[in-house]
Amino acid sequence: MNERLHLLPGAKLPPWVELLEQNAFEHPWGAPAHHEHLFGYPPHAYVRWSTLPAVGEAELLRLAVSLEARRQGLARRLLEESESYLRSEGIHTLHLEVRNSNLAARGLYEALGWNLQRTRKAYYPDGEDALIYRKQLQM
Ligand SMILES: CC(C)(COP(=O)(O)OP(=O)(O)OC[C@H]1O[C@@H](n2cnc3c(N)ncnc32)[C@H](O)[C@@H]1OP(=O)(O)O)[C@@H](O)C(=O)NCCC(=O)NCCS
Repeated sequence: MNERLHLLPGAKLPPWVELLEQNAFEHPWGAPAHHEHLFGYPPHAYVRWSTLPAVGEAELLRLAVSLEARRQGLARRLLEESESYLRSEGIHTLHLEVRNSNLAARGLYEALGWNLQRTRKAYYPDGEDALIYRKQLQM
């Protein structure tokens, strides 16, 4: 496994991230978001966060692990490491939304202490509900 990568806001997405994004998601989200931090283990796993440092919050935008590297603890490791970095930057509240049918991601988030807040009915273009999760970091 390569060394962990951390891209700061303003960085361009590396091609391997765009490729993983295309393979993992029906609607790839190419351009970096406002104030985005990306953590990854090239070329197998990445997580993208959008941070709002002024209010101490961050949103998990995307997380993906290549098919051949799944169920080896990579997503857990990336989330734990990036949460630790965000905490050190004064971020105390994390948010994300996930498809109701995404049992792998929901299992992961719940195993890592994320709490289900509410459901956004028919949020996705195909009519599927989004689940909104939140996690409070201990400062
Ligand atoms: C969701 C995803 C990122 C998980 O990555 P991963 O590296 O395989 O996950 P890990 O190996 O770190 O798993 C950690 C824990 O998450 C849960 N989990 C992971 N995959 C799971 C699955 N398919 N079914 C149920 N629980 C699962 C388990 O609790 C697991 O712990 P365990 O292996 O000790 O049982 C990966 O399946 C993926 O890339 N999916 C497609 C993209 C996606 O849906 N991203 C999330 C929405 S943004």
